[in-house]
Amino acid sequence: MSTVIKNGTIVTADLTYKADVLIEGGQIIAIGAGLSGETVLDATGCYVMPGGIDPHTHLEMPFMGTYSADDFESGTRAALAGGTTMVIDFALPAPGEGLLDALKVWDNKAARAHCDYSFHMAVTWWGEQVFDEMQKVVARGITSFKHFMAYKGSLMVNDDEMFASFKRCAELGAVPMVHAENGDIVAEMSTKLLAEGNTGPEGHAYSRPSQVEGEATNRAIMIADMAGVPLYVVHTSCEEAHEAIRRAKMNGKRVWGEPLIQHLTLDESEYFSEDWDHAARRVMSPPFRNKKHQDSLWAGLASGTLSCVATDHCAFTTEQKRYGLGDFTKIPNGTGGLEDRLPMLWSEGVTTGRLTMNEFVAVTSTNIAKIMGMYPKKGAVLVGADADLIIWDPQARKTISAKSHQSASDYNVFEGKVVTGLPRYTLSRGLVAFAEGKVTAPEGHGEFVARTPMGAENRALSSWKALTAPRPVVRAGIPASGV
Ligand code: URP
Ligand code: ZN
Ligand code: ZN
Ligand code: ZN
Repeated sequence: MSTVIKNGTIVTADLTYKADVLIEGGQIIAIGAGLSGETVLDATGCYVMPGGIDPHTHLEMPFMGTYSADDFESGTRAALAGGTTMVIDFALPAPGEGLLDALKVWDNKAARAHCDYSFHMAVTWWGEQVFDEMQKVVARGITSFKHFMAYKGSLMVNDDEMFASFKRCAELGAVPMVHAENGDIVAEMSTKLLAEGNTGPEGHAYSRPSQVEGEATNRAIMIADMAGVPLYVVHTSCEEAHEAIRRAKMNGKRVWGEPLIQHLTLDESEYFSEDWDHAARRVMSPPFRNKKHQDSLWAGLASGTLSCVATDHCAFTTEQKRYGLGDFTKIPNGTGGLEDRLPMLWSEGVTTGRLTMNEFVAVTSTNIAKIMGMYPKKGAVLVGADADLIIWDPQARKTISAKSHQSASDYNVFEGKVVTGLPRYTLSRGLVAFAEGKVTAPEGHGEFVARTPMGAENRALSSWKALTAPRPVVRAGIPASGV
């Protein structure tokens, strides 16, 4: 069976042009004028773009005494409805648990996925077993390792553990990732705030100001530099963290920053709502920030100092959020956004002129595929690429609401936002996976995507570090061994 997309304008990270796209066997087999196929999808008035890739989700994540409400079934259904055709979720070993054991658990969870997926592996503790298994994880096509610098007492790792893991990543050609917040300071500030009677959700924002994120980002960049490995900073939410990334990039370091659609479009005033539920539903780490920080993130996307837009989709229900009534440190941290990332970014980025259409494709898909070692299989409109595509109607409008969203959560942090720009069709490996407001890809359609280690940045950085490594000065009459 072949499918042809006709009458559309192709938009990629670097080109905009009119052409038809012919698909067979799940891949793009031709791009050009006057193509024909058995099934015809009309893209009149639409843009044909690579499907979104969300590099940061937590589906059915065990966290803070509960599990995030969206699993791979509802989460990937939400993804397709919003034009996202692939997610990268975090496999999370409990401290002391083996990486391969955790991977088995995530393999099982993901069997229900409606769209393609991959995993990052979290390093939540350090030891010989982790060192050894990292190699096996990379051999399975999981080429990125996440480190939490926050969540003291559960997921947090210390600098020595991060340094050991980053050096291992350098050897394996993998990309270390960090959740950058100073967990020691956050823990102490939380205790003090609670003792002073700041028990509501606003206490969460007070406990983790932008400085703690800026410090941790800077520290992680230094550790990666010492280890000789690139670094990916997740959920970059503030100017201080962006500044650290910007400075590192200007100094030739290989660092990528990932703002979330939530931080770009929602601000800290949400935490001061008199409605406890409203404020608690928005509790996530890092917290939402003010306009100064939001402007910095938008500028970073436009200038290229920030590289990807993600969701960190980690949805909880109102009932789950209420675990933290009377103590903000017990409110499960996380918000949803999988269905809304692309429409929100288009509406607030492209239609306002803060981003070009090509930049939109770069930060939602192509950059992610390149950094994560799966380009051009994913993130491209090219012959031979997987036909993960969106036929994007820039005139289509809707009002975001929990009443009509796919997520299992009973609310939506973007409730009431009117978005312009929606998928008319979403294709997953050539299959029409979303059409006319309905997800049509069956449960289990999603496949695991193995990624390739030793990307160009890892290789270049290894060469440079080898060339500039410290060398002893040879002095006449003084033996180098010191004997
Ligand atoms: O609050 C958040 N971000 N929850 C999900 C876990 C994480 O830190 O990414
Ligand atoms: Zn995080
Ligand atoms: Zn996360
Ligand atoms: Zn389903």
